[in-house]
Amino acid sequence: MPFATIRHVIPRKLFLAPIPLLLAAAASGPQLIRPGEVWPDDRGQHIQAHGGGILKFGDTWYWFGEDRSQGLDPARRYVACYSSTDLAHWTFRNQVLKQADPGDLGPRFVLERPKVFYNPRTRKFVMYMHIDDARYQLARVGVAVSDTVDGDYRFLSSFRPLDRESRDIGQFVDDDGTPYLIFEDRPAKGFHIAALSADYLTVERDVALINAPLEGGAVLHYQGLYYALGSALTGWNPNPNKYATAAKLEGPWSEFRDIAPPETRTYGSQSTMLLKVTGSRTTTVVFMGDIWRPRTQWDSRYLWMPVEIGNGALRLPAPRPWTLDVRTGESQPQ
Ligand code: GAL
Repeated sequence: MPFATIRHVIPRKLFLAPIPLLLAAAASGPQLIRPGEVWPDDRGQHIQAHGGGILKFGDTWYWFGEDRSQGLDPARRYVACYSSTDLAHWTFRNQVLKQADPGDLGPRFVLERPKVFYNPRTRKFVMYMHIDDARYQLARVGVAVSDTVDGDYRFLSSFRPLDRESRDIGQFVDDDGTPYLIFEDRPAKGFHIAALSADYLTVERDVALINAPLEGGAVLHYQGLYYALGSALTGWNPNPNKYATAAKLEGPWSEFRDIAPPETRTYGSQSTMLLKVTGSRTTTVVFMGDIWRPRTQWDSRYLWMPVEIGNGALRLPAPRPWTLDVRTGESQPQ
């Protein structure tokens, strides 16, 4: 349809729209983020990005996670990628990894908690993920790369970072751009914050081993303090997630404290990341958690809520629908 025609059609359509519809459009405002509910993507399908991570590239956020849709090839594990410019509406981009058994791990091999970093020097997107056998005895990370953020990632290798057992992983990029891998180390009864190599393809240096057996690890740098957060080791069952603080990543780290009333077991969720959204007026820190449904994994939900944070305290409020204005950085529970 020629452009001139479109210009004439749109006003006519608006003119013909029923008044209540027009009023609803004007009053709708920013999209609500609804913790615990089905979160439809642009196709109307529940987002499949479990145990996920977020990469901001330009003005766009990319959400990567486990794609546990029904009907996928059971011999493969899938990672999906979605994009958004407001963190509320998500567009499905690609199944960026459709991984067959990368070694001799067996048909029930595990690929979980994918996290993507962008390396500005090599201009590659580097994905880390937890790779394991069915009994979680291998305890490795896998690494895959792509030239584009939502391209088909190429699996490179799997290994134990720093020769340590590694199960749940997390990602943290400091304000100066330095990337860190967070990984749970069961024999050491703690979790590591470790620096990556210059090409990001391997884990090079242990920065901290925090002496708390925590998984779903997340780290945040906020107003001059580092916050580390994670869940206890209770598998798919929720537990009271806890946080600690330190002036330097190396520590010393404070004692761990509950982020929410312990009886709520983190409102039924498990941490996967802390996301900082800085706008023109303020900064919102979003707790990203998974509400797992182990028997119907495709229906696992997300608990995203802005946390109350400052001066070494962090609190996850009871979940309720909220809005986020990424331009100003302001969030508003409804
Ligand atoms: C959880 C972990 C998940 C998954 C699950 C398997 O503790 O956070 O990513 O590995 O155990 O039981």
